[in-house]
Amino acid sequence: MRETRLDPAELVAPLFACSGEGVVAPLSGLPGIARRSVDELAAEAARLQDLGIGAVLLFGIPEEKDDVGSGAYDADGIVQRALRAARRAAPGLVLMTDVCLCEYTDHGHCGLVEDGEIVNDASLELLARTAVSHAEAGADAVCPSDMLDGRVGAIRAALDDAALEQTPIVAYSAKYASAFYGPFREVADSTPAFGDRRSYQLDPPNVREALRECELDLEEGADAIMVKPALPYLDVIRAARERFDAPLLAYNVSGEYAMVKAAGAQGWLDERAAALESLLAIKRAGADAIVTYWAADAAAWLA
Ligand code: PBG
Repeated sequence: MRETRLDPAELVAPLFACSGEGVVAPLSGLPGIARRSVDELAAEAARLQDLGIGAVLLFGIPEEKDDVGSGAYDADGIVQRALRAARRAAPGLVLMTDVCLCEYTDHGHCGLVEDGEIVNDASLELLARTAVSHAEAGADAVCPSDMLDGRVGAIRAALDDAALEQTPIVAYSAKYASAFYGPFREVADSTPAFGDRRSYQLDPPNVREALRECELDLEEGADAIMVKPALPYLDVIRAARERFDAPLLAYNVSGEYAMVKAAGAQGWLDERAAALESLLAIKRAGADAIVTYWAADAAAWLA
């Protein structure tokens, strides 16, 4: 009679690539998660494949940042190198990449900045270049998370021009300007140097606007859409599920994970039970796949 089940193949594990060799640097804000050098990331990818995890989502922590985020679209950038190594180590694992500039810009915003404002259209070309360079390095799918207007269309056109028409776009379509990204920004060192992301990310009180964003991304060529964060936005997941037939992902973000981890460490919650219940609730709300820092643990718990 059970209506919903969790399957490790529907979980996506975020991975953070950094420079160096033999580096596994634990993160205080995300216990159990680490930044990994390319060699260690490849080994982790192989382990995740063995656990039956469906896909990984790669993020890069570059050594240097600049005002145009050059590290994001460098053919020899950190994510590009991680892709090549992970592909060799885990040939059957789906490799997705987060396409954004915020980890690579010195100001920490997701696009170009002029006079203290994000410039939308000029940023699109750089996001598209980033997506193409990820696909050329072996990404199976690219996931724009910047929330600028028109990025899906720009990325689709650029991929097609580069003979990468087979590469799908998994768009972070309903991404809210959320307080729950705190631990991630510490990890990725991507807290905006000034202002916030409210001019391009969604306003938490809005659900119809989220559906409009999903619709626009699908019209521009998105193959799958994503809602983020997950737990505080289960109604948005449900609404997107009912409105659209496209595959739907949900991102169980760093703050959602950190809360349960912290309560678990205090003995206030049973981490395993609370984590599995959270993931199940996200799936019940309508997500086909879930990006979660619990992916590896959940696969082991479900085995
Ligand atoms: C990049 C990006 C962010 C996250 C995923 N991609 C941070 C942000 O928008 O500030 C957050 C992930 C998490 O909190 O787990 N734009």
